[in-house]
Amino acid sequence: MNYTVVLPAGGSGKRMKANKNKLLLELLNKPIFLHTLEVFQHDPNCDAIWLAVKEDERPLIDSYVKKYKITKVHGYAEGGMERQDSVRACLEAIPPCGIVLVHDAARPFIDREVIARLVEAANISGAAIAGVPVKDTIKKATDGVITETVDRNQLWIIQTPQAFKYELILSAAKAAVEDGFLGTDEAMLVERLNHPVQIVESTYENVKMTTPDDLIYGKAILESRIQEEQR
Ligand code: CTP
Ligand code: MG
Repeated sequence: MNYTVVLPAGGSGKRMKANKNKLLLELLNKPIFLHTLEVFQHDPNCDAIWLAVKEDERPLIDSYVKKYKITKVHGYAEGGMERQDSVRACLEAIPPCGIVLVHDAARPFIDREVIARLVEAANISGAAIAGVPVKDTIKKATDGVITETVDRNQLWIIQTPQAFKYELILSAAKAAVEDGFLGTDEAMLVERLNHPVQIVESTYENVKMTTPDDLIYGKAILESRIQEEQR
């Protein structure tokens, strides 16, 4: 089943401490965001890619898009102050479609099979998001003293992609801005409308490149995939 993907890429990557947008940092000689773009370029079910970028970074990003022949990029929206603003700008820019996937440009290791399951699930229930079960024990604490050990069996680490029916996520994004609500993911915008959101189990490899140590892990993932292909 086909979909359009919206990729927020308009952040500044402060936690990466690279003095530039972390998405431009290279992993095995290719900027991070290009690894992400190539997943969607090569997925036959992906109809169109839209990117939210900072206005002053658009020429550079577009030059990479052309150089690496990412022909599915249909357009750009202007990145906003918060990630949620960047995503909304894209949602307002894209032509109406069936299923929209929102995916962090900073998660280059997303699996195509997970994407397919998300799209199928969103087509049935309206909203489906990627997540993995929590591996560690999680505790709540006040001033460093434990107040509660949370039941791990009910906890998920939530990732992107997050897949939605187009009308649902567009109206949820508009409602959030009207109400001054800022969420940390798209699902929250839909949850507050009391719409159920399905979790689709993803892979632990689908990490977000956030801090410098993530780059070490990211490089190792790419190298192991190359080795796998050569076998
Ligand atoms: N993003 C965006 N617009 C923003 C903030 C973030 O499009 N105003 C994008 C980032 O480019 C990234 C994704 O949202 O692809 C996930 O955000 P995050 O990992 O937090 O990236 P940054 O905000 O760039 O990093 P930091 O929070 O460390 O500054
Ligand atoms: Mg951020």
